[in-house]
Amino acid sequence: MSNNVAHLFPNARTAAFDCGAFIVERLQDALAKREQATLAVSGGNTPKLLFEYLRGVEFPWAKLLLFFVDERAVPPNDSDSNFRLANKNFLEPVAFPRENVVSVHGEIPYRTAAEEYSKAIRERLHLVEGELPVFDVVHLGMGPDGHTASLFPGDPVLADRTGIAAPVIGKKMPPERVTLLPGVLLAARSAVFLLDGADKQKALNEVLTGAEDVQKYPAQIVARSGQRVDWFLAGLHWPEGA
Ligand code: 6PG
Repeated sequence: MSNNVAHLFPNARTAAFDCGAFIVERLQDALAKREQATLAVSGGNTPKLLFEYLRGVEFPWAKLLLFFVDERAVPPNDSDSNFRLANKNFLEPVAFPRENVVSVHGEIPYRTAAEEYSKAIRERLHLVEGELPVFDVVHLGMGPDGHTASLFPGDPVLADRTGIAAPVIGKKMPPERVTLLPGVLLAARSAVFLLDGADKQKALNEVLTGAEDVQKYPAQIVARSGQRVDWFLAGLHWPEGA
C-alpha cells in the first residue's frame, strides 16, 4: 500500500477547494492538541485558488503561524513574490495577524535572506540549534521537471537533511530563491501536493512510479519517504502502480 494518497478532480477549482478543506482539517486537528498550528505554503500559480478557498473559511487565524516553502529574491510587492500572492489572495482579505507570518525578506540579497529566514523560523518556533521545524502542514506544488519547493534537479541542496532553509539558483524564473530544505519537508506532520495541468503528468508518473532518483525528480524526496502524502490533482491521472 503506497504512502501516496490520490485525490483526483476534473478541474483546478475543485482540486484547490478540496485541498484547502483537507488542510483546514489538519490544522483543526493540530489545534485540538496544541495552542498553535503551523502551515507552510508554496507559491507559483496553482495556489491562487487554494488561497481563494482559505479566505472564505471560518478559522481562528490568530492561532495559526504561516511560513513560506520558498520565495523568490524579489521585493514583497513584486508580481513574482510568493508572499504577495498569499497576501493579496488570502492574508489581507482575512486580516491575518501580520505578526503570525514568517516570510522571507526577498528584497535583500538571497544568501542573507536564507540565513535570516532560518533564524526567524528557529526563533519563532523556539528551536534549539540543529532542531528542525515540524510544520503541521506543508503545502507543495510540483513543476513539469519534478521540482518541488525550490528544490530543482541536480542541486546539491537535495542531499541536505539537516538544514532549515538555503539560497538556491533555480531553473525557474526568477532564479535567485530561498527554499525550505528536504529535512523540513520530511519532518512535516502532513505533506500535501496540489497540482494542476497535464504538463505535469510525465513528472508525476516518474515521481510516483519511476526509478528512484531524487536528483532527477526532487519531489521523490517526499513521495518516496514512506510517510503519508496527499496529492490533490486536476487534469491528471493517477499512474498505475502508484
Ligand atoms: C515557486 C513554487 C514552485 C511551484 C511549482 C509549481 O516558487 O515557483 O513554490 O515550487 O510550486 O513550480 O508551480 P505552478 O503552481 O505555477 O505550476
